[in-house]
Amino acid sequence: MADNRRRFLVAAIGTTGAALTALVGWPLLRTLTPDSGEGADAQVRVPRKDVPVGGAKFVQYKGKPAVVLQPEPGKFTALSAVCTHLGCIVKFKPEQGDFECPCHGGRFDTKGEVLAGPPPEPLATLAVAVDGDDIVVG
Ligand code: FES
Repeated sequence: MADNRRRFLVAAIGTTGAALTALVGWPLLRTLTPDSGEGADAQVRVPRKDVPVGGAKFVQYKGKPAVVLQPEPGKFTALSAVCTHLGCIVKFKPEQGDFECPCHGGRFDTKGEVLAGPPPEPLATLAVAVDGDDIVVG
C-alpha cells in the first residue's frame, strides 16, 4: 500500500513538474528567440510594375523594413531600410535620388553607401532575383 502511494506521488510530482516546466519554459523560449516575421527563410515577392525606374518600393523582409529599387530599366536592387546608426527607418527622397534618415540626418545613396551624417556603415544589400513579373527579395 505504501509502495503504491509512493509511486503515485512520484508520478504526480513528475507530471506536475513537466507541466510547470512547459508552462514557464515555452513563453521564455519564445521571448529569447525574436520573431522573424515571415520566417527566417522567407522571400518577398514584389510585382515589377510596383517599382518604377528611379523609384523605390518599401516592403517587409524577415520582419524588417526593406526597399526595392530599379535604378536603371530592368535592373533591380534591394537594401535594408534600417539605418546603420541607431536603427531608424530611412525615407526615400525621389527628388534627390537618395535616402535620408529622419533621426539624425544620415544620408545614403541608392547603392546604400553613406553620403552624410553619423551612420557608420552602408545599408545592408539584399539578394534580388527577377522571376517573371515579380522581383524576389531574399
Ligand atoms: S539612426 Fe539614422 S542617422 Fe541616426
